[in-house]
Amino acid sequence: MGTYYLKSTLILVIISLFKSSIGQNNQYKVGVGISDVTGPASDVNMMGYANPVQVTGGIHLRLFSRAFIFCQDKCNVFVSVDLGMCSQLVNDQVFKKLIEEGLGQYNVSNTVISGTHTHSGPGGYHQYLLFTLTSLGNVDANTNILVDGIVESIKNAHNKLDFGTLMMNEGELLNSNINRSPAAYLNNSEEERNKYAYDVDKEMFLMKVIGQNNSDIGSINWFAVHPVSMNSSNRLISGDNKGYAAYLMEKQFNVDALPGKGEFVAAFSSSNLGDVSPNINGSFCIDTGEKCDLVTSTCNGKVQMCKGAGPTKNMFENTEIIGRRQYNKAMELYDAANMSISGPVDFIHQYVDMSNYIVPLENNVTVKTCKPAMGYSFIAGTTDGPGVLSFKQGDTEGSVFWNLVRNAIKEPSAEEVACHAPKPILLPTGEMSQPWKWQPTIVDVQLLRIGQLVIAAVPGEFSTMAGRRLREAIKQTLVENGMSDDSKVVIAGLSNTYSDYIVTYEEYQVQRYEGASTIYGPHTLSAYIHKFKQLAAKIALGTSEGEEVGTAPVTTNYTGFLPDVRADLGDDYEKVVVQPDPKYRRGSIVQAVLACGNPRRSASEMRGKSYMYVEKKMVDGSYKEIYSDADWSTKFEWRRKEVSAVPPGSYGEATLSWSIPMDIELGTYRLKHLGYYRKIIGAMRQYEQETEDFEIVSENYKRS
Ligand SMILES: *[C@@H]1O[C@H](CO)[C@@H](O)[C@H](O)[C@H]1NC(C)=O
Ligand SMILES: *[C@@H]1O[C@H](CO)[C@@H](O)[C@H](O)[C@H]1NC(C)=O
Ligand SMILES: *[C@@H]1O[C@H](CO)[C@@H](O)[C@H](O)[C@H]1NC(C)=O
Ligand SMILES: *[C@@H]1O[C@H](CO)[C@@H](O)[C@H](O)[C@H]1NC(C)=O
Ligand SMILES: *[C@@H]1O[C@H](CO)[C@@H](O)[C@H](O)[C@H]1NC(C)=O
Ligand SMILES: *[C@@H]1O[C@H](CO)[C@@H](O)[C@H](O)[C@H]1NC(C)=O
Ligand SMILES: *[C@@H]1O[C@H](CO)[C@@H](O)[C@H](O)[C@H]1NC(C)=O
Ligand SMILES: *[C@@H]1O[C@H](CO)[C@@H](O)[C@H](O)[C@H]1NC(C)=O
Repeated sequence: MGTYYLKSTLILVIISLFKSSIGQNNQYKVGVGISDVTGPASDVNMMGYANPVQVTGGIHLRLFSRAFIFCQDKCNVFVSVDLGMCSQLVNDQVFKKLIEEGLGQYNVSNTVISGTHTHSGPGGYHQYLLFTLTSLGNVDANTNILVDGIVESIKNAHNKLDFGTLMMNEGELLNSNINRSPAAYLNNSEEERNKYAYDVDKEMFLMKVIGQNNSDIGSINWFAVHPVSMNSSNRLISGDNKGYAAYLMEKQFNVDALPGKGEFVAAFSSSNLGDVSPNINGSFCIDTGEKCDLVTSTCNGKVQMCKGAGPTKNMFENTEIIGRRQYNKAMELYDAANMSISGPVDFIHQYVDMSNYIVPLENNVTVKTCKPAMGYSFIAGTTDGPGVLSFKQGDTEGSVFWNLVRNAIKEPSAEEVACHAPKPILLPTGEMSQPWKWQPTIVDVQLLRIGQLVIAAVPGEFSTMAGRRLREAIKQTLVENGMSDDSKVVIAGLSNTYSDYIVTYEEYQVQRYEGASTIYGPHTLSAYIHKFKQLAAKIALGTSEGEEVGTAPVTTNYTGFLPDVRADLGDDYEKVVVQPDPKYRRGSIVQAVLACGNPRRSASEMRGKSYMYVEKKMVDGSYKEIYSDADWSTKFEWRRKEVSAVPPGSYGEATLSWSIPMDIELGTYRLKHLGYYRKIIGAMRQYEQETEDFEIVSENYKRS
């Protein structure tokens, strides 16, 4: 009797201990935050297509930084930013500023900053020369905005830290991405390819963040697709398909808030999107409509004639369709998420010199990576944004003429030529240090653990197969070191710093754009896999503490050569040039034209604000802001009308447009414009102007 009593008490104690440990295991402190990071809306080269004439000229969607903090015994932070890619320069300044703001507990070890890879955001925020060539060097105004916005989003998340739980879910999303370099993918062995149904990843993985009282507070998902639905002719700042998807999901939960002002935060993050295009019809010759050459992506030998297409011919519609598909899938996964995340929060980060990484293979053979270099096919561009010269993809030969031109800049050493083979080197960036470093040699590798979820932050664009190999290697290592079979690895692309592309050894042989841009040579992926397995073992064993951090690269605030903003001439900043019509039907487009100071000058002041609002007239006669320049239905476009030498300055004009939603209430509305100008003499001045009221009338209304 006594022993029975003792035994059953013991069992009860054990059960309750077990229960409480489970209870604690899936209890987290969580915080989500969002902040505007929209840079200069005029004159600044956009980061992505490396097209020197593609400079900003307005705003379609604002860019945001979205931060998520997860804590148990330790904390880690995941930040997804609407920008081309993360940068060493921005990260360094973010961590310095976090210390200044008293938030130094969020540092380079436990914080991942991942870019969505939109190609429609202003550039000029990079440490390394190759990434600021087309922006004429650094654009401090943009760098500062990115730093301020990212820090503010982390601060907002920190201020909201409270108890919460996490769920995960995943599912297939079809009709939203294709492989843009199938010729390279096909060089992976048949055996490996047969393991997968598609030549790109179709899975979307979603994490659902639930706050106090079961409240919806946010979600992050990872899906591999390039945000290049907007093409290189676009000049409006935009988060592209991922930015639009995030906009839709946040609007779903933050019903009455303007974009970026609500509580619910939804991140649509990048993943192994290196060879993945949203132009889902494939690539065609512009003149004949035929398929382009598979290996070179040319038509009649010209890359300019071959372009990725679809789903429609219009880039705004393409952004809408590919964005909405991601949003729909994310909502479906969010609503059905029922797999609980539980287990510790942990992190591990290291700086690694990728220019000379020795990878041990079997049988005592070792291979090594190379100093950075770009191959010929890099200049060819891709079918999402072809290059401008006579280069084409799939080039393993090079050309005598361009070798001469290249040698005038820098001739690669014999050692590098051999190391990178079969890549013909166009730019031996690792051997070029004038006027300063062209590409990184030291990069960040990092893992965040949140329960059974492990986020692998990679400093570049992994191809589909490269990403699959990395995920599998990490997963295997986690399981071998004691983590459960249902642990999940996701790749967070374009994180922390940027080192271009990473393809498999087999894909590298084909030297498509992605292979030519795999800057540390044919064994780049093997080196990453080797390194990430070391980190994964430590994360699984819980021995990440005290891990060597490596040597951080030196960052310097280099100058830029973008001329200063010219003075705003004219004195009509209080005047509407073209008023909207008096009446509109739903579905039509309202437009107004106004004199407008150069928005480059006011980018920092206007962060978190808006150059335009749609206002609704309320019954009491007041006006309520219902849409801002961050809304899909609005466009703020700026152009320089005239440049004057005497007096020195320019005249600028803005067109505000609003595409009236079909479900809008009938009634009285107006457009409002906010901006800043600065005359030749005097300080910067803020101004505001409203258009005349206009009516939205029923479909039966006939124009007289
Ligand atoms: C970052 O903060 C964590 C937690 O306070 C700490 O363990 C880690 O050593 C810090 N890393 C650096 C590089 O200071
Ligand atoms: C770089 O230096 C310039 C002036 O030297 C300064 O105005 C700017 O804010 C700095 N930018 C960054 C990102 O530190
Ligand atoms: C959760 O609900 C309780 C009881 O209704 C309430 O007191 C508390 O303020 C709520 N917490 C939040 C964060 O909404
Ligand atoms: C893409 O393919 C779809 C379906 O075949 C077709 O309807 C559409 O017109 C194509 N779009 C373009 C831009 O070719
Ligand atoms: C981009 O798309 C637009 C249609 O939205 C088209 O007119 C333009 O030619 C395209 N530009 C490029 C460079 O593909
Ligand atoms: C979770 O959802 C899936 C489908 O969405 C369902 O098959 C499964 O039974 C659910 N599991 C639990 C524990 O509710
Ligand atoms: C690898 O090298 C070690 C030490 O040099 C040697 O003992 C071993 O036999 C070698 N293994 C193979 C497979 O060559
Ligand atoms: C494919 O890769 C192999 C090495 O794995 C190489 O020998 C072959 O030439 C490659 N094919 C092409 C088309 O480059």
